Formats: sequence, structure tokens, C-alpha cells
Amino acid sequence: MDHFQLRDGEMFAEDVPLARIADQVGTPVYVYSRATFARHADVFREGLRDIPRLHLAYAIKANPNLAVLRVMADAGYGADVVSGGEMARAMAGGVPASGIVFSGVGKTPDELIKGLEAGIGQFNLELEEEGRVLGALAAARGLRANAVLRVNPDVDAGTHAKISTGKAENKFGIPIDQAVAMFGRLAAEPGLNLRGIAIHIGSQLTDLAPLEAAYTRIGRLVAELRAQGHAITHVDLGGGLGVPYRPGDNPPSPAQFGAMAARVTNGWDVDLMFEPGRVIAANAGVLLTRVIWVKPGVVHPYVIVDAAMNDLTRPALYDAYHHFEAVRPSGERMTANIAGPVCETGDTFAMAREIDVVASGDLAIFRSAGAYGATMASTYNSRALVPEVMVDGDRFAVVADRISPETIMAAERLPEWLAA
Ligand code: LLP
Repeated sequence: MDHFQLRDGEMFAEDVPLARIADQVGTPVYVYSRATFARHADVFREGLRDIPRLHLAYAIKANPNLAVLRVMADAGYGADVVSGGEMARAMAGGVPASGIVFSGVGKTPDELIKGLEAGIGQFNLELEEEGRVLGALAAARGLRANAVLRVNPDVDAGTHAKISTGKAENKFGIPIDQAVAMFGRLAAEPGLNLRGIAIHIGSQLTDLAPLEAAYTRIGRLVAELRAQGHAITHVDLGGGLGVPYRPGDNPPSPAQFGAMAARVTNGWDVDLMFEPGRVIAANAGVLLTRVIWVKPGVVHPYVIVDAAMNDLTRPALYDAYHHFEAVRPSGERMTANIAGPVCETGDTFAMAREIDVVASGDLAIFRSAGAYGATMASTYNSRALVPEVMVDGDRFAVVADRISPETIMAAERLPEWLAA
């Protein structure tokens, strides 16, 4: 359930008409609902209520806006981060360093040092050399870094190839059959407190079976490591739970996911971490846009909106579906293509889709844009960087400014040998 609903024929975010935001902030603009973020955070936690020693780290890559991070920190979530920039954001958003887990296949030594100096809660190691470097950096500072080994369980997550991470050929994790030997070698590092295992097999998973298969493999690995005398106290099961994008989509609920996780991990006797991103953020945000033109097409008309692939890149990158709705629907429907102004054929949000009838100047939304939306935006075609708004009841605030092409240009320089 989210808080973007029609009231008397007009689309609201909580108690704010979207048209008011468009008037005051302009379009395109991302609009987030604070209540929806908070509700999703609670529903996900509730789904996992049967898991003792539960830790939740919001995967901030999904939506790292500082206001969002504050809502998640207030809901008791830590943060899963994948760069020094995300680490700084998580702390600026109010997440305590101890609640931060640092994932990512390419953490630089500088980023490892930043994490050590900030005292973050856990490093998820991706290769043996990273463990050696982290151990040495920690030991040199008189520290022991909490770390777990990220394992690649070789499971097909059944999702889009570009967001699948747990197949043997993917770049993530260490092959599961090498995990016991590598764990033994790294456990001896004096600068490391190597205490467990992490996995993350992919994103937008709409079937629990691959997750269950991966978790089961991790359970066996934990037993093997313990048989070798290792103290395994922490397991991080990553994120990945899918969300409904299309009307009628029915992915597993947090309750169904939690029941499976509780059943499979029963008896593991570890602190268990999850890193949800999309399931928290996706349906807590929409991209509000204005129709510029309705251009007659050869087969169907093209609805040209003022949002483009630089603002919401998922359709161009993954052929992703984002539901399109008029802010003031007339009840009439039409079949159309929806595209942005960017000069690429890939800047197309939908082809031959049945949508509300819209005309030049009308407002519309793309739903489910709260995750992997604004954070993946760019300024391609010298478009502004899209702003973000958060609604709370009957009030709203701009939580990220529109960055104009002029501001971007101001960071560019002519070398003196061109200036003359
Ligand atoms: N943990 C790790 C280590 C991850 O790599 C990810 C996502 C997550 C947690 C959160 O996964 P989620 O719960 O959001 O599925 N840009 C793509 C999604 C990339 C996801 C990358 N990793 C998209 O727009 O679909």
C-alpha cells in the first residue's frame, strides 16, 4: 500500500495534490511519501519478526536522499553502503557508524581506511586480497575490523541479467567451493574479526525459490565452517525482494519472505542481517512529469513528456516497466507510446501501451520510481539534474534542488591554452 491515490479525480501524495507540487517546484520532479517509506520499513521488519537477533541495513543505493535516510534511521535501520560517498551520506542522514555495512566489489584502500576510521559495523569482503589489505590497515591502527566473506552461491535468481549477482560468472563474491579454505586463511589475520558470511543474489526477485536455494547453501557452509572450528556469529542475507510494478503483479510479500527466511535459518544461531532497498523505496516515490506534446505517430501517437531517460533510466537500461497515470484522469483511455525529449530512440518509457488520455500541458506520473530513480539520474543532453520532494501529510519540502545546466557548466574550465 502506498500513499499516491486519486481523490475526487485528482492524484495526491498523502494529503498534497501533485498539481500543487508541479506548480511550485516545476517538472520533472521526484515525489516521495514519508509515510510510505516509514510504513514499508515497518512492514518489512514485521515480516521478519520470527527471526531472533535481526539487523536491518537499508541498501541506500536504492534511494540515498538525506531525507529518506533520516526516515530510515528513525525507523531503526542501519545502512548498506557501497562507496565512500554512500558511507558519508549514511552518517549525514543519521545512521550510526556501527549500523553501517560496507559492501561492494571495488572498495579502494582509501575507502577501507575511511570505514575503519569511522568505526563502521562490518566490511563484506569480496576477495582474499581485500581481506589482507583491510587486515593490515586495521592492524596498523591497532584495530580489528569486523568482516564477513561474501560468497557467490551460483544460483540463478531468475531476474534481469543486469541485476543478477549470484551466478558463478558474475563479478560478485567468492566461489562457494573456495569459501572454507579462504576463510581459514583470512581468519588468521590479526587485524580482522572474521565472523561470518554474506550473500546477495540479485534484485527484483519475484520468486522465493532461488533465495531459498541460496540461503540453504549458506546454512550448509556455516555448518562446515563451524566444523573447522570457526566461530560464525553473523550472516548477511542481502536484499533483493521484488515489488509490484504493473497492476496485478503479485510478488511475495515481506511476510511470505520472512516466513521462508525464518524457516530456512532456524537454528543457525547467528546475528542475521538483511539489506532491503527496492522493497522499501520503489513504491514510496513517483516521477511527476508534464506532457509537452502529443505527436501523431505512424502506428500510435507519441506522448512526449518532460521527463527523460536521464531522469529515470530504468526503462532504457533494463526495459523496465513504470506505470503511467494522468494526475487528473478523464476516464478515457488511448493506446500510445511514451517518450522523453532526449535524442535517443532508447529514451522511450513505453510502446503501444494503453494509458489515460493526456494532452499537451497535462500532468502525469510514473509510479514505483522511488528506488533506483533519482539516484541513477544524469544530466545527459545538458538537462537539469532532477529535483526531489518529500511529502509529509499536508506539507511538502524540496529535499534535493534542481541542478541547472548553468551550475554544471560552472564546474567546467577552459585550459589556458584554449582560452586565448
Ligand atoms: N545488497 C547488495 C549487496 C546489493 O548489491 C543490492 C542491490 C542490495 C542489497 C539491494 O537490493 P534490492 O533490495 O534493492 O533488490 N539499478 C537496478 C538495481 C540494482 C541493484 C544492485 N544491488 C534497478 O534499477 O533495477
